[in-house]
Amino acid sequence: MKELRTQVGIVGAGPAGLLLGHLLALHGIESVVLERRSRDYVERRVRAGVIEYGIANLIDESGAGTRLRREGLVHHGVELRFERTSHRIALSELAEGRAITVYGQQEVVKDLVALRLESGAALHFDCEVTSLEGLTGERAVVRAHGPDGPVEVTCDYVAGCDGSFGVSHAAMPEGLVRRHERTYPFSWLGILAEAAPGTQELIYCRHERGFALYSMRSPTLSRLYLGVAPDESLDQWSDQRIWEELNARLSTDEMPEISQGPILERGLTAMRSVVIEPMRYGRLLLAGDAAHIVPPTGAKGMNLALADVRVLARALDAALRRHDDRPLAAYSATCLERVWRGEEFSNYMTQMLHPRFDDEFENGVQLARLRQAATSREASTVLSRNYVDLNSL
Ligand code: FAD
Ligand code: DHB
Repeated sequence: MKELRTQVGIVGAGPAGLLLGHLLALHGIESVVLERRSRDYVERRVRAGVIEYGIANLIDESGAGTRLRREGLVHHGVELRFERTSHRIALSELAEGRAITVYGQQEVVKDLVALRLESGAALHFDCEVTSLEGLTGERAVVRAHGPDGPVEVTCDYVAGCDGSFGVSHAAMPEGLVRRHERTYPFSWLGILAEAAPGTQELIYCRHERGFALYSMRSPTLSRLYLGVAPDESLDQWSDQRIWEELNARLSTDEMPEISQGPILERGLTAMRSVVIEPMRYGRLLLAGDAAHIVPPTGAKGMNLALADVRVLARALDAALRRHDDRPLAAYSATCLERVWRGEEFSNYMTQMLHPRFDDEFENGVQLARLRQAATSREASTVLSRNYVDLNSL
């Protein structure tokens, strides 16, 4: 058995766990990160792509933003496409000059893994946490199974950054926490394709056949999504069917064909909203997807996760170095106010852009919302500020 002692045991090496470890190290606080997957797996997992203005600054100011600033694509606008017509939302103009950066989540993960390994701080891959103990006692104990056998980490605090299928949220006692949940009757089929993006800015498209999103990762890589039925299987989607459907939904007179190329990666994402309240139980603090899930339409999941750990790093610094527990006591309430704003925005974007095949009334409401978002300066200002920098508002 490998026995370790540290100040903060971090479960999960996603964006939340890795950035937390990095921020704590900047404060001189020791941590051990345990990740159940391999390094290769986490560095290849294709997910989010849109980084808010304030979150890009957070990454950069912490010293992890060199590649993000060099390779990230800065976007000043986004397109809403409905009834086969394009409507540009001038994000930066409406949000005090701020912009989003399009930079893959796995690139953020790669940058943070490299920094951590370079610094020599503990990061264990292929190490699955199986239980959390002593959460209301003097010390917490994290038990895991690593490549060489059992691992036991004794720590002052545990940061549960292990996503929505991890052990941390499951360790929150049912009677003491509330779980707010909503599921949506669609999934996203996402692809990464070796094709030059045929658009300068992201396109969020509502078509009567379903939702579509045109995004990108670089001048030669496109990232595209289709709204599909929740029980859809990837086997039903040949490359040809995917491209035909993307074309059917996204094409306009100005953009009759979207550029195609080999599909490098594909996946299905179910859509749900979850909030766990409070985000703390004793020595366990939840952050990111472990505490809350948003449907991806607002591009908020990773941003909320990174904003949580900004608050958590400061609170742990106060508790561990200044013996001031007040910021930690306020951690959950501080985060949840912002998290609910993220839930509201993600719900708004989702409900506005995914047509219902069985509810014509809802479709009428969706189109009215879209027209308002596209044509009213007040509505597009609210959308822009939420899209570009919700986590700093
Ligand atoms: P995760 O990234 O899930 O990391 C958790 C880690 O914990 C994982 O590495 C996991 O392997 C590990 N783990 C789990 N259980 C254990 C265990 N028992 N022991 C040890 N390790 C464990 N967000 C945005 O902000 N913008 C977007 O544009 C966006 N688009 C998205 C598109 C798609 C298709 C999807 C699926 C998500 C998208 N998101 C987006 C959401 C975003 O990807 C997540 O919110 C983000 O990954 C949350 O980070 P996290 O660190 O909290 O959790
Ligand atoms: C991407 C993902 C999103 O969920 C979104 O709303 C916008 C872009 C992306 O992967 O690029």
